[in-house]
Order: sequence, then structure tokens, then C-alpha cells
Amino acid sequence: MNKMLNKTILFLLVITVFSCKTESNSSAKTSNDTPFDAKVDSLMNLMTLQEKIGQTVMYSGSGTITGPTVNTNFRTYIKEANVGAMLNVYSTKATRDLQKLAVEETRLGIPLLFGYDVIHGFKTIFPINLGLAASWDLEDIEKGSRIAAEEASAVGIHWTFAPMVDISRDPRWGRISEGAGEDVYLGSEIAKAYVKGFQGDDLSKTNTILACAKHFVGYGAAQAGRDYHTVNMGMDELRNVYLPPFEAAVDAGVETFMTAFNELNGVPATANKFLYRDILRDEWGFNGFVVTDYTAINELVEHGFAENEKHATELAIKAGIDQDMMSSANRLYLEELVNEGKVDEALINDACRRILLAKFKLGLFDDPYRYIDEQREKDVIYKPEFLEAARKSAAMCSVLLKNNDKTLPLDKNQTIALIGPLVKDKENILGNWGAAGDRTGKAISVYEGVQEYLADSKVAFAKGCEIEGDDTSGFTKAINAAKTADKVVMVMGEDYDMSGEAASRTNIKLPGKQTDLIKAIRKAVPKKQIVLVLMNGRPLDLSEEDTLADAILETWFPGTSGGYGVADVLFGAYNPSAKLPVTFPRTLGQVPIYYNMKNTGRPIPDHDPHEDYKSHYLDAPNTPLYPFGHGLSYTTFEYSDVELSSETIGFSDTLTATATITNTGDYDGYEIAQLYVHDKVGSITRPVKELKGFQKIFLKKGESKTVSFKLTAKDLEFYNLEEFRVEPGEFEIAIKGTSDFDFEHSFTLE
Ligand code: GLC
Repeated sequence: MNKMLNKTILFLLVITVFSCKTESNSSAKTSNDTPFDAKVDSLMNLMTLQEKIGQTVMYSGSGTITGPTVNTNFRTYIKEANVGAMLNVYSTKATRDLQKLAVEETRLGIPLLFGYDVIHGFKTIFPINLGLAASWDLEDIEKGSRIAAEEASAVGIHWTFAPMVDISRDPRWGRISEGAGEDVYLGSEIAKAYVKGFQGDDLSKTNTILACAKHFVGYGAAQAGRDYHTVNMGMDELRNVYLPPFEAAVDAGVETFMTAFNELNGVPATANKFLYRDILRDEWGFNGFVVTDYTAINELVEHGFAENEKHATELAIKAGIDQDMMSSANRLYLEELVNEGKVDEALINDACRRILLAKFKLGLFDDPYRYIDEQREKDVIYKPEFLEAARKSAAMCSVLLKNNDKTLPLDKNQTIALIGPLVKDKENILGNWGAAGDRTGKAISVYEGVQEYLADSKVAFAKGCEIEGDDTSGFTKAINAAKTADKVVMVMGEDYDMSGEAASRTNIKLPGKQTDLIKAIRKAVPKKQIVLVLMNGRPLDLSEEDTLADAILETWFPGTSGGYGVADVLFGAYNPSAKLPVTFPRTLGQVPIYYNMKNTGRPIPDHDPHEDYKSHYLDAPNTPLYPFGHGLSYTTFEYSDVELSSETIGFSDTLTATATITNTGDYDGYEIAQLYVHDKVGSITRPVKELKGFQKIFLKKGESKTVSFKLTAKDLEFYNLEEFRVEPGEFEIAIKGTSDFDFEHSFTLE
């Protein structure tokens, strides 16, 4: 009885001393002072070294398996005050159970943080992130992550391990599905939108959660597109391409960072002082905390960078890593390292302080159970407006890659043959990182979406084949279905676990016998229009399909309401507006291939692509099948009257570039106008073009609007191996609806 009384008194002391509501502030580039500093100091003065180390430890529950199986007695560790956070625990019951252990069975009752991979939705799953990037709609991306935070926070989740802001130019890499594609400007803008959506404007509200910029850094540049593989890159590429989206997340106030599994130029990210102390803390002024990726501290031994796990523990904390996810390294070795004088206790104090600060910002010391709300869980999960928002996102993310002879939109008076392994799919449609999404029936299939538009009598279904495997026994039924219908719609792609973590492919074609099925249908009905609808987590090699299908719609994995959204596009209720955030190669042999490459000293001349001694292939063109920024509409848009406010600008001037865009077709629709520049000469070579702005505008058929972009010298800054600088000279400039164009205008910066 006395023990319980002591605990209660101590807990009340801790809570009384600290519980006062103050506006939380983000970890953006502001001063280090926060309204919670005194409270954190007071609490830390009560803590033992072991209790402080406990805050730097994170374990995984069994809700979702997101890494190698490691058996841990996390309940025991929590009661010993050896755990500061848990991941993969995501129900009100489970979070309440473990929070009670921490709050009521430890000396100081410090609440746990609960983290989870809420990457593109919690229960209501939105299109995969590469798909969301294709919408180029920052408002919609922010809204989707806001909805994800609403649902996740209702079950006790305080922290999402998102956004993943890794730039990637390699479709072999399975995690290209989780990011915003190949471009640094688009990726940076999208990173900010996610952070704002997840964190909102006040972390003390129970519907806002900590965001986490990951994986710092360079993970998307893994050699050969093989996950976890070695990364080597020059400082120009690191600072001009891979770092900026992370800095953008810091500017947006992201509260946490996560380390990357890879090494960078010989030093594993999880022990990389240059990244975490020099850049993240000193250059960018980041005040939040850094968590490792799953068992990443222990992996320093496999990297050949640490002698053993104890040495790895020392290297990680010294590099500026605050919390250990699933290695047990901090729990097992940090106190010993301090006692041996190998690690300064001040480093542990810094880490503990940052983690406690996050808990204060969330209001967990006012009420450790405030995010655990059974009624809110009932009220919030799968709200109709959330499902509707996911439907709209699915439509906005679908990229119309090809549409010969106005094959699309479909006519409700015609019959269609719906063929392919993903027509009735309700599982893969969520894509990878589907969090707590339901793969057993909640999601709307394309078949169900089509049923919203066509009576069953107008639809002939045949699966035709599986996603994988050599079985072609279903071809005959599919061919017969095609023969009976006016048009053929084939829904094909990858299995959802063919992309995501540890899911790299050396072959980026459609798996199995899917392409053969398209060929068989094409042969059987040579005059019929074929629409290919794709669900996939990476750019695919569609060179064959491009010769077989009359229309191709890239839907990525469109999520819980995906079938509705895709059908809205197929039948014209939503005129497709999405643009590719990543290049689709003609063949894997071209990879890496991306729009903003360098010119080389021997570029292919336009007039003679086969001229000798030029930078080209013997067996394929240099151009991609579908370029970055490409995406068709059911209408057409014409760009004209590009005007510059001046032919010359000074370093303190602002250039205004305008263009008139006219909807010259038969449908109202959105167009994503893109601003590109080309720095013709630099103290290091510069990309042949760079995206520097975009605007999504709505135009009724026949309507014209003027889009206007402002450009300053700062927008033209780059890192030239020694410093960030803006250099005078001639810049080409263009406003287009794709990255596939030749420049026609230029200005001079002097
Ligand atoms: C995984 C992923 C990381 C994720 C973490 C927790 O290994 O690399 O993105 O957030 O573990 O699930």
C-alpha cells in the first residue's frame, strides 16, 4: 500500500509541477528555447541515468511486422522504465494497456510515445505516395495526411514515421513507391505539405501527431536499386538533390527524423556525424529528435563500421542519434559506456531532453491517455467524408499516359469487357505500407467502381490470369469476353508487396503472363479499343503495352476508395489531371534516367540521333517512354504568349514569367502548369532543365487564363562543391505542361 501511495504522490508531483497548457511550438528553425524547458529540466533533475537512457529506447509491438523478428520482453522493459516509445501498437485497448504500465508501474510515470507507419492513411488508405505526388496537388496531399492523423490519433498514436522524402530515380528500388519521385522541387514542396497535414498548427491538440522526415539520407540512391545497398554520391548531388526535401521538412517544423539504413560515402547514416551534427543540427537548426530505423544501430556491425554492438551504441549516440528503434543497444550498453567514460552523460541528457520535449508538446504530461479515446475511435474511423476524400485523391492521382482516338472516357451506353487479375482486387489496391487498412473487403475494387456506372448486363468479366505465374488457362474466357464487348478494359499490375521495403526488382515489366494476355486480346479483337489500367508501385517498362493498348491509365495503388476514383476517371466524371512525378523508361537498360540530367560533352544532336561519337545507345533512344511531368487530359491545353517582366534581372530583382493557357478541347479540366529553367553555364555543370514552380489551374472548355510565376536569384541558387551560390549568366525559361520540350525564351541574371 505504501509503495502505491509513494508512486501516486510522486506521479502527482511530476504532473502538478509540469501540468500547464502552453502553446506548443514546432521544431522549425527557431531559437532552442521552448515554453516547456523549465518543466523538462525539473523532470530530468528527478531522473536517474538509467531512466534517462530508458527514454532513448523504442520497441515494437506485434500489431504490424515492419522489420526482422526480434523477440523482446518490452512489457518488462516498460515496467523497468527502460522504454520511451513503442511502435506498431495501434488500438485504444493496446495503447491504453501499455501506457498504464509506463504511467502507473514506474517510479516517475513518464508516458510512452506511440509511433506507427501512417504513410498514406491509417484506416482510410489513400493512394500510395508516388501516386499522391502525381496529383501535384499540395492542398490535397496535406488534406489526406490530416485525415490520416485524425484517424491514427484517435487510437492513441502520437507519431507517424512519415513523410518519406527520399528522392529516387531508380524504378528497381521498391521504396520509390513511398516517396515523391525524382524531382527535388516537387519533393520539397510535397514534404512540407505532409508535415503540415500530420502536425497541424498545434501539437497539443489530440488530432495532431508528430511527423518524421525519413530516411536521412540518400536511401533512394542505393546502388543497382537494391534496397539497403551502398550509396556513394558527390557533394553536389547530395546538396542539390537529396538533402533539400529534408531541409524543407525542417522548415515546415517537422518534429523528428529517422536515419537511413544505407551508408553514405563510406559512413553508415546511423553513425554519420556529418549528417546529424554538422548538417541537421548546426546548419539547419533542427531542434527535434532523431530515431534510428529498425535495428539500424546493430547493423553498424554488419556494415563493418563497428566492432560490436556496444561500439555501435557509442558511435550512434556520438553521431547525434537520440533514440534506438529495436536494437536494444541503448538499453544494454549506454550506462556502461557512461560509467567507462566513453560516452559523456551530457549526450544522453540531450537525447532524453528532446524526447521529453516532444511528449510535453503533445500534452502527454497533462494527460497520458488523452489520445486514447474509444468514442472518438468509433466516430472518426472511416468517416464518410474521409472515404470521399480518398475517392477524390484516387481520381486526382491517376495519370492518363496515352489516349489514342479518344478511347477514354468510356461511354455508359457501351458494353465493356473487364479483364485482368486486378479487376476485382480489394487487397493489393491499398498498396504497400497500408497501415491498419483493411485488405479483406473494405476497399472498393475497380469492378465495384464500374458498377456505379454500368449495369452488370453491360459488363463481361474475366480474370484472364494471375498477377504472377505462367498459367494461361484463363485466356480463352477472357478472349470470349472481349469478343462480346464494345471496348476492353484490362486492369493489371504488380502485387502490392512487389514494391515497398526489401522489394527491389531486376525486371520492371508487368509480372507473369499479363502482357501475353494483352497480346492475346489484341490479336483476338484487332479493331477493338483496349484500355490498360495499371496498379503498380514503381515506373514499369511499358514499351510493349504502349504498342498494344489504345489508352493507358496509371492509377498506382489507388487505396480504399480506389475503385470509385478510377471509375470516375474512366467514365469522365473526373477529367484526369495528374502528371508523372517520375520518369517511365523505355527499358531498364536506360536506368537511371530522369528529366533533369546533365548535357554531357557529346549530347545527341536533334538533327541526327545516330551521329557517331555521341552519348547514345546502339539499341535504344535516350528519351524515356513517358517523361517526368507528362500526363494527358480528356481535353487539350494550349500554352501561348509567354512573357517575361524583363530580359535582364539583378540579384535583388524578381522576374515575373507569365503564359496564357487555353482549354482548346471538349471537356472542362485541370492543367498543371510547370515552370522550368536551365542555367546554361555554371561553375559546375547544371541540369538541362529544373522544375522551379507549378500551378494547378481549372479551365472550362474554351476558357483561357494567364498563369504567373515569380523567380528570384535565390531560386537559382545551387551548391558548387564549395558553397551555395547564385551565379550570373543566361538562363533559359519555359512554362509547359510537361518536361518534354525545347526552350524558347531566356533571361540574363547580372
Ligand atoms: C522499417 C522502415 C521504416 C519504418 C520503420 C518502422 O524498417 O525502413 O521506414 O518507419 O521500419 O516500421
